[in-house]
Amino acid sequence: MSSDSIRLDGQVVIVTGAGHGLGQAYARALAARGAAVVCNDVVAERAADTVAAIEAAGGRALAQVGTVATPEGGAAIVDAALAGFGRVDAVVNNAGQLRNAAFDEMTVDDFRAIVDTHLLGAFHVTQPAYRHMKAQGYGRIVFTSSSAGMFGSPWQASYAAAKAGLVGLCNVVALEGAAHGIRANAIMPMAFTGIGEGGPPPYPPDVLEDTAASLQPIAHLMTAEHCAPLVVYLASRDCAETHRVFSVGASHVARVFVGSTSGWYTPDGRPATPEAVREHLAGASALDGFAVPESMNDASRFVGANLPSGPT
Ligand SMILES: NC(=O)c1ccc[n+]([C@@H]2O[C@H](COP(=O)([O-])OP(=O)(O)OC[C@H]3O[C@@H](n4cnc5c(N)ncnc54)[C@H](O)[C@@H]3O)[C@@H](O)[C@H]2O)c1
Repeated sequence: MSSDSIRLDGQVVIVTGAGHGLGQAYARALAARGAAVVCNDVVAERAADTVAAIEAAGGRALAQVGTVATPEGGAAIVDAALAGFGRVDAVVNNAGQLRNAAFDEMTVDDFRAIVDTHLLGAFHVTQPAYRHMKAQGYGRIVFTSSSAGMFGSPWQASYAAAKAGLVGLCNVVALEGAAHGIRANAIMPMAFTGIGEGGPPPYPPDVLEDTAASLQPIAHLMTAEHCAPLVVYLASRDCAETHRVFSVGASHVARVFVGSTSGWYTPDGRPATPEAVREHLAGASALDGFAVPESMNDASRFVGANLPSGPT
């Protein structure tokens, strides 16, 4: 393992939502390692604050004010990188917001706004950046998922759907990008940033206590700075990973994955009856002997590999 420091000198990194919270910490950490950082935010003062902090520390950055939530907005961010610094080496899709509500009270407008910001926002920025990366034969892309999306969180149906969708987007960008030197990973950060402040209560009252209890042992470690080192690594040339999801924050980093159990097969290869499904589903759900497929085809091969021998 190399002990050389990870540097991004001469590299240009876009960070969306760089004006506050995690995005600001990422932008500052990337600039501290030599990257020229395009600091996007929909709030002008926030983007300017981050650029001022980077410049005060001797780094290079430019502010780009606009939304990720439209195709034009995404293109403008990539254009700003090309106009300002001449290239795009990495994109950190981070911009985000919350509009929590109980599922039966969630409005379609709020649901759409969340999907537009997180999921379509990442598409709008990443697609034009990917085209440049493909042409230059190199790129790094970070998508921001969330444990709310991968594991579930009450009152966050819109957010969770968008965040789980980002893992699907990452999977495909990683597979398609591999031949072009493009590596894509998703992160699930955890930090107190004030996201959602001023909006509706973040969690239903009946789970608030459990949420507080679950966070209590790690609350003092939940800073944005605890999440930034992973992002610097994933955005750098040193990044050896692709097609992965990492949980990060509170002093830890861990891989999160979607696996498949080896399951239950009908003995004769014929369709099961609903009653047989009822009988065998618990066993088919047992976590011994699971696999973590690397693609849809890999998942199909896993199903085929476990076929019981005998006539079908
Ligand atoms: N804080 C956490 O624990 C946590 C956990 C999981 C995932 N995340 C995700 O991490 C990302 C950053 O969250 P944070 O906690 O730092 O939030 P934050 O509110 O501190 O920062 C988000 C920034 O994004 C900007 N933004 C919002 N909508 C935008 C848009 N359409 N275009 C451009 N900029 C926009 C905001 O102005 C803000 O500056 C989000 O995607 C969030 O969902 C955060």
